[in-house]
Amino acid sequence: MIYLDNAATSFPKPDCTAEAMTAALTQYGANPGRSGHALALEAGRIMESCREEIARMLGEPDASRVAFSQNTTDALNMAIHGVLRSGDHVVSTLMEHNSVLRPLSELSRSGIITLTLIPPDSEGRIHAQDIERALTPRTRLVAMTHMSNVLGIEQDVAAVGAMCRRRGVLLLLDCAQTAGHLPLTPRTWGCSLLAMPGHKGLLGPHGTGALWVAPGLTLAPLRQGGTGSMSESMFQPRMMPDSLESGTQNLPGIAGLLAGMRFALSHREQAHEQSVALCTRMREELLNLPGIRVYTQPGASLLSFNVEGIASQEVASALDEAGIAVRGGLHCAPGVHRFLGTLSCGAVRVSPCLFNTLEDAMALVRAVARIASGASSPAV
Ligand code: ALA
Repeated sequence: MIYLDNAATSFPKPDCTAEAMTAALTQYGANPGRSGHALALEAGRIMESCREEIARMLGEPDASRVAFSQNTTDALNMAIHGVLRSGDHVVSTLMEHNSVLRPLSELSRSGIITLTLIPPDSEGRIHAQDIERALTPRTRLVAMTHMSNVLGIEQDVAAVGAMCRRRGVLLLLDCAQTAGHLPLTPRTWGCSLLAMPGHKGLLGPHGTGALWVAPGLTLAPLRQGGTGSMSESMFQPRMMPDSLESGTQNLPGIAGLLAGMRFALSHREQAHEQSVALCTRMREELLNLPGIRVYTQPGASLLSFNVEGIASQEVASALDEAGIAVRGGLHCAPGVHRFLGTLSCGAVRVSPCLFNTLEDAMALVRAVARIASGASSPAV
């Protein structure tokens, strides 16, 4: 199987990810931050090393501002429900994933917040001045993606962050598609909350992610329970990261994430260049085929397209039969597909990684050519 669905989750992971998970499960798999015995201390040490590695990646000195989560959606929910209060106004964009749109829309439908969604320009870019025009005296939060999971466009988050800082509004960034791919510098951008997956560009396992919370900002915890700290109190500790990390943490996942992200960060530029180069080549080749509509711009690290007259899910299934894994449909991003005019049919998304080769890319192009020409068996 040729795997070209890394925007959904990265695969394969480097061997070190699985080895670290196995070690956590077989050598020191106690409960971190609870008991005081040697195995629990070792588990805690691994967990804190991973937290420090994430803080280092963000250019942040204080690792305690990083809380582990199950994935980006979980981290975004921790942030959104943690900062918003009744009567707040939020500005977000039509380029968002449902992980941002749904929690905000539910709060808006319940009458707890008011919500303004900003459309992009004709290329899919969000402009800081459009967000600024939507601010009201009640605006507490701007929530937006660093990079669309359909278009692969890097938004100018530094411009948005500078504006938010000037206007005294919190900025929450969804870095689902950029953690492990691009440099992340929340403090210099003026970002207050940054959500990331562990299982995509950072090459950790499923069920891992993190939320970074700027110093000085206190979130109401989404979950309450045991933290192994201040146990005499019946109330949730307010200090980070305990405040946001109730219950037994995903130690094997975090151990795998630590190993995976060390690998990913030492190959970050190479991985990004490789993905962009492969997408550029596939884009050029697909544009030479009749009946192919490409939605992504040159320079993107993923590629979205449709074959005229065939639903994206059907193309994705035909590619699967040919041994190529991609994602069709709406990618949980209805606003992006409304913008593209593809809400009814979706699009085929191809997302390579460091481990893909030019051969993989050309196999995809050959298979799409056969599907587009109506050949029944899209053999590669
Ligand atoms: N958010 C992931 C994607 O874009 C799952 O496929």
